[in-house]
Amino acid sequence: MHWVVACCLCLGVLPIFVTSSLDFGYHNTQLLEAYLKNINAAYPDITYLHSIGKSVEGKDLWVIIVGRNPKTHIVGIPEFKYVANMHGNEAVGRELMLHLVDYLVTNYKSDPVISDLINKTRIHIMPSMNPDGFESSASTCESLTGRYNKNNYDLNRNFPDAFQRNLAPIQPETKAVMDWLQTETFVLSANFHGGAMVASYPYDNANSSTNRISPDNDVFIYLAKLYANTHATMYKGTVCSTDSFPNGITNGFQWYPVQGGMQDYNYIYSQCMEITLEVSCCKYPDASTIQGHWNDNKAAMIEYMKQVHIGIKGQVFDITGKPVQNAIVEIVNRQHICPYLTNQHGEYYLLLLPGNYSLNVTVPGTSILKNIYIPQSQKFSAMQYNFTVSVPVNSTASSVNTMCPRASTQSPFAPDPEDGGIALNAGLLPFLLSTVIMLLLTNQ
Ligand SMILES: *[C@@H]1O[C@H](CO)[C@@H](O)[C@H](O)[C@H]1NC(C)=O
Ligand SMILES: *[C@@H]1O[C@H](CO)[C@@H](O)[C@H](O)[C@H]1NC(C)=O
Ligand SMILES: *[C@@H]1O[C@H](CO)[C@@H](O)[C@H](O)[C@H]1NC(C)=O
Ligand SMILES: *[C@@H]1O[C@H](CO)[C@@H](O)[C@H](O)[C@H]1NC(C)=O
Ligand SMILES: *[C@@H]1O[C@H](CO)[C@@H](O)[C@H](O)[C@H]1NC(C)=O
Ligand SMILES: *[C@@H]1O[C@H](CO)[C@@H](O)[C@H](O)[C@H]1NC(C)=O
Repeated sequence: MHWVVACCLCLGVLPIFVTSSLDFGYHNTQLLEAYLKNINAAYPDITYLHSIGKSVEGKDLWVIIVGRNPKTHIVGIPEFKYVANMHGNEAVGRELMLHLVDYLVTNYKSDPVISDLINKTRIHIMPSMNPDGFESSASTCESLTGRYNKNNYDLNRNFPDAFQRNLAPIQPETKAVMDWLQTETFVLSANFHGGAMVASYPYDNANSSTNRISPDNDVFIYLAKLYANTHATMYKGTVCSTDSFPNGITNGFQWYPVQGGMQDYNYIYSQCMEITLEVSCCKYPDASTIQGHWNDNKAAMIEYMKQVHIGIKGQVFDITGKPVQNAIVEIVNRQHICPYLTNQHGEYYLLLLPGNYSLNVTVPGTSILKNIYIPQSQKFSAMQYNFTVSVPVNSTASSVNTMCPRASTQSPFAPDPEDGGIALNAGLLPFLLSTVIMLLLTNQ
């Protein structure tokens, strides 16, 4: 990598990293930016660095993309993402992200599995969603200093919520992520936290305890177990003193309800399956532990990324051969709160375990029902299946988004006066109790 250094020097920029290996320590905003820029300069063919917005204090919210075609979506190549450090004081994930980037780019071409993964997946990595919080964190295990953004909002309570009206004003960091989710067809994601050792899966919130189970519960349990089992210790479920998680996994709501969480928002409003990974008992441990955390998580992080290739994917075309946007593609008896829709290329991606499924493709005027056996995915690709509907479809004419609950469209700045914000129903008491519990349990 000496030429990178030389190039930086010739541009009059002081190189901060003079070796090709990333050190095991904490990287503040300046070091993190320098590292990402150096990597992007050294690996321009397989990385793309961009900022998706700014924090309250004006720091860039960096995302580095690793992939064979890092700048654009290619039909059939699924979009994967990792987000860390949305709680600024939960610091381990931030460093895991940098080491993962380092591992991916330095093993491209030399490691056939990593090469295949990079060739067939577009991987988005956001090391810090809350850089302001990180900079103001107390480096201690339990302190909450730095958890919140600069306006003192918890970003993992700041998203629109399908089950309860979220009255918190949407913060710049949250808005940046919400806008980002609309620019890509993300399929699978995880977000990294600290303060426990567990893989937590949707739903994080619900309006009754029976509704805490999502239609994709089998897939979520599989994904959470896969991470926990591949991690050095998470599967034990009792790594931290307060933990008691069978198999190292939990349903989010069952652990404690989270209103306005990012995981549920991704899954419900963005068709992206996301789990929450709590990867360290201590929220901000000593820098000397980072190498150990990386070793513990490395295999799990790689295996989890590969899961973006399970299930089935394809395109929906109309009778004229035109790709259909906003076609509903759902599995019978597995309807999502917001129906899953094809993107502008007519693409759909459904993460499913092997088995027989009935696919239901609906466009204005007609539906197709098709029974399909979905096998294990092979060679970094889900099973592929295209649909052609028997009518012409005007893709711009779609009313399907109106099927989403109101949280997706209503501004939390303007609560509906008719219901006083949160509807009073039998579900309210558990929420009041859960609020008390949430004050005690503040990991996620
Ligand atoms: C990845 O793509 C590159 C460029 O097309 C190709 O040379 C390489 O063989 C591919 N690697 C694997 C493992 O598929
Ligand atoms: C609970 O949430 C589901 C999904 O958003 C919704 O369909 C249902 O009407 C809600 N029930 C109550 C009592 O709010
Ligand atoms: C197929 O999806 C459409 C649109 O969501 C729905 O109206 C219909 O009931 C579904 N059919 C089956 C068999 O689930
Ligand atoms: C899937 O359906 C086929 C045809 O009906 C059947 O032979 C097969 O056993 C089924 N597989 C599973 C895993 O249910
Ligand atoms: C689906 O359609 C695309 C675009 O025409 C094509 O490249 C792909 O091979 C098709 N897949 C299958 C399984 O037919
Ligand atoms: C397609 O839908 C748009 C928006 O509803 C409408 O303006 C346009 O005339 C439609 N085109 C056709 C060919 O129906």
